Amino acid sequence: MKRVITYGTFDLLHYGHIKLLQRARQLGDYLIVALSTDKFNTEEKNKITYFSYDERKLLLESLRYVDLVIPEERWEQKRDDIQLYLCDIFVMGDDWLNRFDFLSDLCEVIYLPRTPEISTTKIKEDIKSATHSFLPQAIL
Ligand code: CTP
Repeated sequence: MKRVITYGTFDLLHYGHIKLLQRARQLGDYLIVALSTDKFNTEEKNKITYFSYDERKLLLESLRYVDLVIPEERWEQKRDDIQLYLCDIFVMGDDWLNRFDFLSDLCEVIYLPRTPEISTTKIKEDIKSATHSFLPQAIL
């Protein structure tokens, strides 16, 4: 069995995430997602998520491409995870290109092209500007 692992926040789950997970799963037989915890997001990634860790985990666990969700709590855990879960492939989107090449002594490291024109940040910005344009002129 070929095991694949990937990492991320996956807030406001969108089709860019789904395509990444679908392609990651197709590289092997078992996909593990290390999901950034709320503490790790705020303290290390400077991200405040809309959905909590438990909510994001529930969404990921409902996907046919995801076999296991584990917490990502620190940057340095990747080597331990790869060995503990016997991973053959480490996958990330190519916004992280070359950043994890140092793991290639443990497993294959693959960067998949990001899906263009969608991100959690864009969704948040679009909703914010749409909400803004619906507000009555008087309060703008
Ligand atoms: N991803 C992707 N295509 C996108 C958006 C994300 O392939 N359009 C991938 C990322 O490269 C990463 C994973 O999905 O491997 C999780 O990304 P994450 O940072 O959680 O999502 P973003 O939408 O990029 O979030 P943000 O805008 O907060 O950076």
